[in-house]
Amino acid sequence: MRKIIIDTDIGVDDAFAVRYGSLVFDLIGITTVNGNCTANMATQNAKLFCSHYKKNIKVYKGASRPLVEPPSPPSFDIHGKDGLGGVYDNPFDDKAPNAIEYLINNVKENPGEITVIAIGPLTNIAIALNLYPDFAKDIKELVIMGGAFGFNGHNGNMSHFAEFNIYSDPHAADIVMQSSMPITILPLDVTNKVQITAKEVANTNDEFLKNISKFYIDFSLKQKIFHDMAVHDALTIAYLVNPQAFTTIKKPCRVITSGIAKGQTVIPRDERVAPNDCFLGLKEHTICIDVDVNAVKEHLLNTLKI
Ligand code: BDR
Ligand code: CA
Repeated sequence: MRKIIIDTDIGVDDAFAVRYGSLVFDLIGITTVNGNCTANMATQNAKLFCSHYKKNIKVYKGASRPLVEPPSPPSFDIHGKDGLGGVYDNPFDDKAPNAIEYLINNVKENPGEITVIAIGPLTNIAIALNLYPDFAKDIKELVIMGGAFGFNGHNGNMSHFAEFNIYSDPHAADIVMQSSMPITILPLDVTNKVQITAKEVANTNDEFLKNISKFYIDFSLKQKIFHDMAVHDALTIAYLVNPQAFTTIKKPCRVITSGIAKGQTVIPRDERVAPNDCFLGLKEHTICIDVDVNAVKEHLLNTLKI
């Protein structure tokens, strides 16, 4: 069974992804990062999650701020005042062993075996790569929820150009994209398309997911592009379960790190080598640009059913 580590700023759709991942793969660890909520809160949320589902999964605390920029405010308007819909009292503390050491040691000790699923800003992954460049060689695969490329009319959700996870630490994302790791990217182009209703969540009989998603659903319904709730992060697991449900392209990718397009994920627009070519010699990553919505939803909702 595939061994996965999920790196997360655990908010509502992250919780769907972690639950889904824990049901279909061998989830060996959760590493937290600043993003939807602080790294401390994400650590508490991850512990709450594991305790609720009685999962003996270790939680590790990662970066509390982006590499270069000051941390942006947590997304409490989307994910609620604690990142998990603000419905549970959280009795857990924010102490946990170091996530970056855990990521490096685990990947180093199990070369070619560990899939890392990054569903928050890419700060931990960039630091791991900086400290241990062979991380790129030893990892089996990195699967990212992040970015927006303009396919299917889907652009940014933080600006006209940028998606939240990439925007929140563009320098880290650009380091990761330039690495030689095998990377698959699930951008908004596909994640915006897979939306589920409150009723569909209720039908899973999963009280935890039902309770935490109320706030997020209310927020989603106020957004023009959503008719229901997008479960962005869960698409990383869906891809690994059934890659045939996705249309992909192979391209090198970079991230704009400052200016009005900060956080934009960019790919070459044609085959030409430009005089000043920022993609020269870079590995081509797998970028998902379309998805079989029904196939993904069916497997996700059936798997979540209790
Ligand atoms: C991403 O941003 C976060 O709010 C979600 O958890 C997801 O990872 C979508 O842009
Ligand atoms: Ca997330």
